[in-house]
Amino acid sequence: MRIIVTENYQEMSIKAAKVIASQITLKPDSILGLATGSTPVGMYKELINMYKNRELDFSTVKTFNLDEYYGLSEENDQSYHNFMRENLFVHINVKKENINIPNGNVLDIETECENYERMIRESGGIDIQVLGIGCNGHIGFNEPNINFEASTHLVNLTQDTIEANSRFFSSIEEVPTKAISMGIKTIMQSKKILLLANGEAKADVVYEMIKGKILPEVPASILQLHNDVTIVLDRESAAKLKDNVV
Ligand code: GLP
Repeated sequence: MRIIVTENYQEMSIKAAKVIASQITLKPDSILGLATGSTPVGMYKELINMYKNRELDFSTVKTFNLDEYYGLSEENDQSYHNFMRENLFVHINVKKENINIPNGNVLDIETECENYERMIRESGGIDIQVLGIGCNGHIGFNEPNINFEASTHLVNLTQDTIEANSRFFSSIEEVPTKAISMGIKTIMQSKKILLLANGEAKADVVYEMIKGKILPEVPASILQLHNDVTIVLDRESAAKLKDNVV
């Protein structure tokens, strides 16, 4: 694991954007795995700036998002489709047909999940997967005690996650209780992984992910077994790590 500790959220975002920018520069038809949540918003802003300054071109990039709530329409303000539209896609020149996000509004979930996996495979596989991390160690929506072998599937969100995500909804009752998420197997098959974390609330879980045992209770700990992981942290989220960091 390559661990980069930055001073603050802005620096974390700039460093992470530079990693994605080099990926696209070296391989203009890169397959990007993208994440939602507050953490990558600053990185997306930086990427938008680079695009506006003509430093980056997304016209041949393909994207696959990690997850989507189950039961929310794509147009819902809180859907991850909408999140990605607002925070990245409408501001850059990625082609609509090159954007992939699980459809959380289907009846046949099994087919949706199989198709998603097939599309990732047929695209040649994800070159770089962006991840945030939940305070309970989830990546995507792979909640604690996940089966490490799972591919894209329907998950039941834990109470912690429902509570954490209720900040975006007008009441906790409106937060979906299920989601479709790439599984740990899907994530681990990405060629590279870029995980971002910031803020003191993530310090314990960041420590567990990097220094703890690899356990299904901390889904992100499996990343210790991936051979190309870059973790970009701010000072606060890195507070429990004392050595082996740059
Ligand atoms: C969400 C998402 C994750 C994200 C995590 C942390 O529930 N499904 O992909 O990494 O929670 O969110 P935040 O970045 O807002 O702390």
